[in-house]
Order: sequence, then structure tokens, then C-alpha cells
Amino acid sequence: MLFDPFSFSGLDLKNRFVRSATYEKRADEDGFVTESLIEFYRDLTRGGVGLIITGNVLVHPSGRSAPQMLCIHSNIYIRGLKNLTDAVHELGGVIAIQLVHGGRQSLPILLGGNPPLAPSAVYDPSTGVTPKPMTDEEVWQIIEAFGSAAGRARIAGFDAVQIHGAHGYLVSEFLSPHTNRRHDYWGGDEERRFHFLEEIYFAIRKEVGEDYPLLIKMNADDMIEGGLNVVDSVGIAKRLEELGIDAFEVTGGMYESGQKTAQPDILTEDREAYFRDAGRLFKERLNTPIILVGGMRSLSVMEDVLRKGEAHLISLSRPLIREPNLPNRFKEGKEKADCISCNGCMEFQKLDVVKCVCLGS
Ligand SMILES: Cc1cc2nc3c(=O)[nH]c(=O)nc-3n(C[C@H](O)[C@H](O)[C@H](O)COP(=O)(O)O)c2cc1C
Repeated sequence: MLFDPFSFSGLDLKNRFVRSATYEKRADEDGFVTESLIEFYRDLTRGGVGLIITGNVLVHPSGRSAPQMLCIHSNIYIRGLKNLTDAVHELGGVIAIQLVHGGRQSLPILLGGNPPLAPSAVYDPSTGVTPKPMTDEEVWQIIEAFGSAAGRARIAGFDAVQIHGAHGYLVSEFLSPHTNRRHDYWGGDEERRFHFLEEIYFAIRKEVGEDYPLLIKMNADDMIEGGLNVVDSVGIAKRLEELGIDAFEVTGGMYESGQKTAQPDILTEDREAYFRDAGRLFKERLNTPIILVGGMRSLSVMEDVLRKGEAHLISLSRPLIREPNLPNRFKEGKEKADCISCNGCMEFQKLDVVKCVCLGS
């Protein structure tokens, strides 16, 4: 099944493998595409993955969560991004862009010393930062920024847009009762916490139209007390489905919940596919394609996930950092990714670019 084609919302994928959004630290200091980034994407495309999702790309300067991340908050970025999509398309690839605002998880050091923006002033022990609650005006400004960014993405030739609605970044913060303590139009109950994402959805559709594929990566579970659980998340997903979202990528966790998103030491099959139960529930309750991410390493586990109806597509991050040509290797008979989930690739402060630190060991 993994090598069967899959089509949805006008996207024709040659197989079921997705490169999950993975920050590369390969943009320049100002967020422009570099030759090294383009070469990196050529390798990924040649490696056989059916759909590439870019590392998170910044929609507004106030949401910067990492150095040398790609930006799309101004028209000046379109040309470089077009070079990137051209390079992927020339090799027959399909590429979506992930749009992000880092919210509370943005770093003051990258914001000129200013506190990050968030729905509410909820201290984050993982960063030691208390964010500034957003004014109504700031909320609308960021909604517009998502819309404009998506419009630019379409002009730059991306085949789809993915909203980063997961991992405790701004969209996820508005959805989560743990980080959204507001009592206004933007918070107070589930419906109001959904308004920020709903308005982003409308702002994006206004720019890209109804027929452009619009995906979301969202937490099935925040994996923190007082956060979203899978029942809440299916409710949010149903609302999105009614609006017309084209696919869900199911994940979980936020900085504050510890290493839940990219879990370490996935060395045995029983530790793999750690969000598969959530994938199953999403797939049962919804009629929209489900992309599952999180700890899949063995071909047999990935096949099992598809066969048991826990996802339509299999999304990989760390394994493709180590082996960008993993889908081709699987096709040639390889049975398991080489990645040992040591998470050295996540310590990007110490690295010049995001890469596998144990390659060759
Ligand atoms: C170095 C690194 C960078 C990441 N950057 C992003 C990102 O930009 N956007 C995102 O949604 N997830 C990001 N993630 C999370 C992955 O997409 C994925 O959800 C997680 O690593 C679990 O999948 P895996 O077991 O296949 O690695 C990143 C993970 C790693 C290791």
C-alpha cells in the first residue's frame, strides 16, 4: 500500500510517504532561501517521498522561534521561494509550505528582547518566558498575516499550504485551554477558542480560493494537564472539515509537555507510531485524508498503520534527516530506517544546519 498513489483535492501523490515539516536551519539570517536549502530539497525529491512539507515558515516577524528559519511575511521572499518550488517540480516532486507563528514559544532573543505574543500570559517553564497577551488588534494582524502568506505561497508555486496548528505554537495556543485563558471573542469555551483558527481559515481561503489544497497539522493531544485531549481535537477537526479543510496531519505535544512530539529512543516496533490511536479515531470520525506522524521507522509498522485504517499517508521527519532517500531504499527492499531517534538533530543551537549527528557512527 505504501507505494500506491494517492490523490486528494487536486494533489496527485506517487506514494504514501510524506516528509513532515522539519525546520532545516538552512535559510539565511534574514529568512531567504539559500542554495544549500534548494540542494537539500532536491535530495529529498530525488529520494522518492510523495509529498514534501517545508520546515515551518514564518508569517510575521513577531513569531520567530528559531534562527535561519524561512520567512514569507513580505513579497520580497516570493522570488527565492519560487526557485525552491521550481527545483522540486523540475524533479517531479510535490511540495506544500507550512505556515507558522511561534506565539509563546518564540524566543525574546530573536525578537529584539521583546516578550513573545500569546493568547494569555501563561508562563512557559520550558523557555522561562511569560508571553504578552495579544490585543484584539494584534490578533487580527496575525490572522491577516496568515492570509497574505498563503497568497504569496500560491504565487511562489507551492502545491498546497499547511497551517501549523500544533506543538504549542500560536494557533495551537489559541485552541488549547491550557494556554488560552481569555474571556472574549477568542477564548472562554471551545467555540471561542476555535475563532482564531476559523478566521485564519477564512483569511487564507480569501487569498488562495476554495480549490487550493489547505492542510493542517494539529495536536490530537497537548499531552499536558489542562490541555486538549483527543476528544476535544476530533471536535475541532469536525469544525474544520465542515469549513472545507483538505487534510489533517495528526501529532501531539508542546514544548512544555517535554519530549512528546519527537519521542526519543524509538528502537522497538512497540514504541513506533505513537499517535496511531489518535489517527484511528480521526479516521473513523472524519471523511478527510489523515496523515499520521510520530515515530514510524519500520516498513511493516507503516504498512500496518495503513492496513488498519489509522491513516491514509505516513509522515516522517527524523528518518528523512538521516536518509533523505529512505522511500527509494524501502522500495529496494530496506525494512527499517537507520534513525535511532537520539534527537541530536533537535539540538540545533549546537549545529550549523539541522542534520543527523550520528551518521557514520
Ligand atoms: C529537527 C526537527 C525539526 C522539526 N521542525 C518542525 C517544523 O518545522 N514543523 C513541524 O510541524 N514539526 C517539526 N518537527 C516535528 C516533526 O515534524 C515530527 O512531528 C516529529 O519529529 C515526529 O516525527 P518523526 O518521529 O518521524 O521524527 C521537527 C522535528 C525535528 C526533529
